[in-house]
Amino acid sequence: MNLIPEEQALVEAARAARVHAYAPYSRYMVGAAVRTTEGQIFTGCNIENASYGLSICAERVAVFCAVAAGARAIEAVAIVTEDGATPCGACRQVLMEFAPDPARCCVILATLDEVVARYTLATLLPQAFGFTGAAPESSV
Ligand code: THU
Repeated sequence: MNLIPEEQALVEAARAARVHAYAPYSRYMVGAAVRTTEGQIFTGCNIENASYGLSICAERVAVFCAVAAGARAIEAVAIVTEDGATPCGACRQVLMEFAPDPARCCVILATLDEVVARYTLATLLPQAFGFTGAAPESSV
């Protein structure tokens, strides 16, 4: 699958992040990289815990790193696993929160040596929940 250089760079960042995965329980290593609308790249890996439910996926680590650094708008994501897996439902919802244009937010799935698929976030999470209540502007 052909990628433009920007997308290839995102996949390489996700591959590099995967090396740091802490997955002694599942032995399933995941790397993720997100690119913001300002062109910054943030990465994450999955981090497991002896109390299994406390484990966190690579995609959410990448998104949370971006948000903690002040970013708010994600336009592309690359995920690297041994088998080119798709992101879990929880991560799709978290990505949705920070994707201003889900129909154009590109989700690239890759293995260690090839890109296997690309989707838009809107395709992966159709009819997503979005908060519609009215919070005072000062509270966000
Ligand atoms: N995992 C991710 O990092 N991303 C996903 O989208 C699905 C699963 C991690 C969580 C856990 O550490 C391991 O993969 C096995 O589920």
